[in-house]
Amino acid sequence: MEKIEKIYEGKAKTLYTTSDPDLIVQHFKDEATAFDGKKKGTIEQKGVLNNKISTRIFKYLESKGVKTHFVEMLNDREMLVKKLRIIPVEVVVRNIVAGSLSKRLAIEEGAVLKEPVLELFYKSDPLGDPMINRCHAMVFGFATAEELDQMEATALKVNKILSAFFDERGIILVDYKLEFGVHKGEVLLGDEITPDGCRLWDKQTHEKMDKDRFRRDLGKVEEAYQEVLKKVMS
Ligand code: TMP
Ligand code: ASP
Repeated sequence: MEKIEKIYEGKAKTLYTTSDPDLIVQHFKDEATAFDGKKKGTIEQKGVLNNKISTRIFKYLESKGVKTHFVEMLNDREMLVKKLRIIPVEVVVRNIVAGSLSKRLAIEEGAVLKEPVLELFYKSDPLGDPMINRCHAMVFGFATAEELDQMEATALKVNKILSAFFDERGIILVDYKLEFGVHKGEVLLGDEITPDGCRLWDKQTHEKMDKDRFRRDLGKVEEAYQEVLKKVMS
């Protein structure tokens, strides 16, 4: 499927139209940002690694009955996906305390949550993706109650599937962010599932294998993504 026109360029991906109005090409870049774009850098080969990791995970989720925008991997850096009307609400799922939750409630990183915690964020670069709740999402028209119900149910289903998937491969799924959109009236899981938007810790050593290595200048970022790819392909 040929790319026709660039329709969106984000921090880590670029989207292109195709000859089919229902399908778009999602191109993964090596650029990395953190802290609302204040920190910028490049992770060598990240685009290729994330395209492959996301392809593997979307295919696995589809095989377990989760509806996603994924159609097929086209080449090293590109996948064909269904065109979505993006719902501007990000769903974060947490199994272990880390990152902003640790800061917000002053709880030590690594504390195991007795149940998964779901959080909603309004997708807005100028506002820095503020945390919101269901009321905000509905009253301000970001998503309907039905869409939120489906997003939350899918997020919890994905959590069960992927926590087990990573666990079997020696990785703890600490937390991650999901995005959803509507295609032909159906809510589908969109965006990507990669170490850019997930916290992944080695089960034995608790070593970080995700974008926190870039955010916190821990080094060996590309190596960590390579290791995640190797493990998810096994
Ligand atoms: P947080 O602890 O910074 O709120 O992040 C929770 C999870 O969501 C973490 O796995 C990283 C992911 N995430 C993104 O993918 N994009 C974002 O803009 C933010 C804030 C978090
Ligand atoms: N990707 C987001 C940014 O560029 C946040 C993050 O991943 O830390 O700010």
